[in-house]
Amino acid sequence: MNAPSLLPETLLAGRVVFVSGGGSGVNLAIAGECARVGAAVAICGRTESRLAAAAEQLTGLGAAVSYTVADVRDAAAVRAAFERTERELGPVDAVVCGAAGNFLAPAESISSNGFRAVVDIDLLGAFHCVSAAFDQLRRTRGAVLFVSGGPSTLAFAQQAHVAAAKAGVDQLMRSLAVEWAHLGIRANSIVPGPVAGTEGMSRLASSTGDGLWTELVPLGRMADGAEIGAMAVVLLSPLAAYVTGAQVFVDGGMNLNGAGRFNAALRELAADGL
Ligand code: COA
Repeated sequence: MNAPSLLPETLLAGRVVFVSGGGSGVNLAIAGECARVGAAVAICGRTESRLAAAAEQLTGLGAAVSYTVADVRDAAAVRAAFERTERELGPVDAVVCGAAGNFLAPAESISSNGFRAVVDIDLLGAFHCVSAAFDQLRRTRGAVLFVSGGPSTLAFAQQAHVAAAKAGVDQLMRSLAVEWAHLGIRANSIVPGPVAGTEGMSRLASSTGDGLWTELVPLGRMADGAEIGAMAVVLLSPLAAYVTGAQVFVDGGMNLNGAGRFNAALRELAADGL
């Protein structure tokens, strides 16, 4: 979050951006890039200490910040988070649905509760956010950005639960792009590639190693969170005024390589008993 932004420093000045799961990882990077171009930022998440530390970072970037402890699976808590945001910062101009859960597991080993946990966080949680934000977005003619994932379109092994959730997220995005267009509300999604230093990446790489992930990406490296954040800012800003219903890959070209190499690597690990 330290290099200067290449975007105009007032691109989101006077705007309020809400980021679910904004206490860490790629979501915090998105919140940070929004702060760096003038937005006030609200974040929610499950862990107060993490939110407080993130809020301090964002304040250090010059942003007005509000945070609320809220699990996106809890519709009432999400509604309360948006109410607080409006009280403290004003109505939201942009919502980033970023809160997500992930683990690698063969489909046959995932319990009903495990499958439901991921669908509830990623898909139902995103719906809770846009639903709670709707009244504010209608007033601001705002924008929604969903953080999708590679398994939304490609068949990655051990990601059946995530695939189901993220494909749902992208279809929700397309539905809202059509339904809310007449209100001036845009909806898009972003598909990040592997982002260095995030909890999600360290969970995935703990089984596969880092090397596999850079091999999968044509650009040959993981992303810096700020690179994902910059594209998120563009999609939320007037620069993308004519963009809605788009699934935007910010993945170093990873989707073009398909999922075969990843799936083969998991088969090799399984054969090695890992
Ligand atoms: N393999 C198989 N099942 C797993 C699992 C794994 N690695 N990790 C969790 N589960 C199952 C649990 O066994 C449980 O099912 P059960 O009750 O039938 O045993 C179910 O998932 C819920 O787990 P729990 O830890 O109680 O849920 P939670 O709500 O605290 O956590 C998760 C949700 C599972 C998604 C957890 O991974 C999480 O909190 N993730 C958030 C952080 C994250 O993933 N960030 C990266 C985003 S890309």
